[in-house]
Amino acid sequence: MKILFLDQSSQLGGAELCLLDLAQYYRKSCLVCTFSAGPFPQRLIQENIAVEVLAQKSLQFQKQSGIAQAAKSLGQLWPLIWQVSRLSAQYDCIYANTQKALVVGAIASLLSRKPLVYHLHDILSAEHFSALSRRIIVTCANQAVLVIANSQASRSAFVSAGGRAARVQVVYNGFDLDAAPRRAKRSRSQIRSNLGFTDQFVVGHFSRLSSWKGQHVLLDALKLCPPQVCAVLVGDALFGEKDYAMQLQQQVKDLELDNRVKFLGFRSDIPELMSACDLITHTSTVSEPFGRVIVEGMLSDRPVVAAAAGGALEIIEPGQTGWLSSPGDSAKLAEIITLVYRNPELASAIAKQAQAVAKERFNLSVINAQIDDLLKVSISHQPPSSLHHNNNGSACEDESRRQ
Ligand code: UDP
Ligand code: GLC
Repeated sequence: MKILFLDQSSQLGGAELCLLDLAQYYRKSCLVCTFSAGPFPQRLIQENIAVEVLAQKSLQFQKQSGIAQAAKSLGQLWPLIWQVSRLSAQYDCIYANTQKALVVGAIASLLSRKPLVYHLHDILSAEHFSALSRRIIVTCANQAVLVIANSQASRSAFVSAGGRAARVQVVYNGFDLDAAPRRAKRSRSQIRSNLGFTDQFVVGHFSRLSSWKGQHVLLDALKLCPPQVCAVLVGDALFGEKDYAMQLQQQVKDLELDNRVKFLGFRSDIPELMSACDLITHTSTVSEPFGRVIVEGMLSDRPVVAAAAGGALEIIEPGQTGWLSSPGDSAKLAEIITLVYRNPELASAIAKQAQAVAKERFNLSVINAQIDDLLKVSISHQPPSSLHHNNNGSACEDESRRQ
């Protein structure tokens, strides 16, 4: 299978990390095109994956943009569409991984007559997208022979927005199960002492700094927790949310938490850092489409508390594999953090159980093979080697296990 992957981003967000894993699987027969230069194409080069940066300027259309911006952006898209259409002649399909890539890919696929595949990493709801953006995405996605949704939550929102249900398959992100132990070059106590922690209870937050990721909720919660509880915020403002990053710094000062909070910026040693924490928090204030950090926390054998909306509800079974807190509710989050702090044995048992479940459900090699099967069936009409589907369009697991 020869695949032309398209992704508008130059940053290493969750959608790009997911594509990185898939592109490694197809490394001998794929090309990844990004729409600007930056850390994502650089990382692809480091991994010896063929990459082409199609444009140097970023496109101005945003998730909440209206009609005027859409018209302006279409002008910027034509050179990209032309390049993609030309490149696609050498590939079996055009695989769009982000929304702007979808628009480019959909028009290019009409010109080149190559099948279009869309990997949907977002929840197409009013919380995240303007009505116009949703209409454009659904119109383009309905041209795809296959839409891979990263969760049931993303699939449902897509279908509610007018997406064709029959074309959507849910496939969760996969994770390299060997990654954590292989990358752990330092011991937990070494990492903690490098971070300036000894016997504190360290709560980790691993997300880009963005208001909907809710780092402010964790800071408010911290103020309500025992003074022994500290936090590390790992991640940077990847998509222009510098004001929010500054607000967080100010919030730390206002709450007098300077000695209890550390900002580490963007890091590439996530499994190691997670292993140095006592609890991993996910605090999105609106529905998280999937939530890679939740699974990564589980795989790191750390207890996880996540915001109860979207994909998080499909990942965590409360009381069995982690905890769920109401989105935006810092008092509830503080209660859960304090409970975990006071009950290390319970936390450790739940973390163990979560790790075992995550290894079974989110194994990268299994998930890559599932995507390969879906592509074979949808594009070259070859019989699948291992797929079995259920009524929810889920290609990846037996849902009855989660009832
Ligand atoms: N991440 C990272 N370095 C950081 C912060 C986050 O590599 O400093 C990774 C994190 O491990 C996860 C991804 O970024 O794999 C974020 O994905 P997620 O699905 O949680 O959220 P997104 O940002 O894609 O909405
Ligand atoms: C997007 C979503 C995130 C998801 C990731 C990978 O970035 O915001 O929830 O985990 O894609 O599918």
